[in-house]
Amino acid sequence: MSRTEPPRVVGGVRELQRWADRQRALGRRIGLVPTMGALHEGHLSLVRKALSLCDDVVVSLFVNPTQFGPGEDFDRYPRDLEGDLARLGELGVEVVFAPETGEMYPPGEATWVEVERLTEGMCGRSRPGHFRGVTTVVARLFLAAKPHVAVFGMKDYQQLAVIRRMVRDLHFDIEVVGAPTVREPDGLAMSSRNAYLDTAARQQALSLQAALREARSLFEAGERDAGRLVSAVRARVAKEPDAEIGYVELRCAETLEPVETIDRQAVVGLAVSIRGTRLIDNVILDES
Ligand code: PAF
Repeated sequence: MSRTEPPRVVGGVRELQRWADRQRALGRRIGLVPTMGALHEGHLSLVRKALSLCDDVVVSLFVNPTQFGPGEDFDRYPRDLEGDLARLGELGVEVVFAPETGEMYPPGEATWVEVERLTEGMCGRSRPGHFRGVTTVVARLFLAAKPHVAVFGMKDYQQLAVIRRMVRDLHFDIEVVGAPTVREPDGLAMSSRNAYLDTAARQQALSLQAALREARSLFEAGERDAGRLVSAVRARVAKEPDAEIGYVELRCAETLEPVETIDRQAVVGLAVSIRGTRLIDNVILDES
């Protein structure tokens, strides 16, 4: 079912909490899809997933300043409120939460949420403080929208694992659903940052997916040694003239501990900068 009218935009935490209380009292199941806006097909697939699982879906649009490091792209991060509202209205989303920064981070606030260990490697190493910003804002969004279900993309695999752990450790009564990465027809994982890529960089960006496919083929052919799989990924990406590897890591898919020989579900994650645009992707290596 699709509606054409735009969703109701809520800017205040209190107002959203009151709405959530009312929906809960009516026995309705609330889904939350946290985003930073500039919605693409990957985000919309998360929204569709939430709509299929819940009676009411809230999509948050908030470019969260605390998850960007100094010198990162907070200021130029794409923003498109009007376009986002039109896309969400077409899908039938009723409520969009689009708070101002001061609403999410009241002046003088002093409370942070930090998940240890799982945030040490991968993006956590190359972006210090990033996950502290993510878990802090996601915890606040959970408390504001009071969802039964929250949907996150698997492209940000470490983020998903970190949020699952936060939900478990803090006893949030929320089901976290991971939705598969949506790709362009040529395999590039959809990302708001793809908008920064010029033609040459866009072409070289295909190396991330090509390298991960190579890792999967090697794994399927019986390779279990993490070092050799990581080297194969690095070698494929390094063929591109403008690709700078941030990391290539192979870790346990649940705990994100480093794995040397694959004996359980594992994830190969990588971050690569191409002409200044940082892209990430991953593949799950599983016996099944
Ligand atoms: O994945 C994102 O877009 C962000 O990290 C999130 C989860 C919306 C928190 O700001």
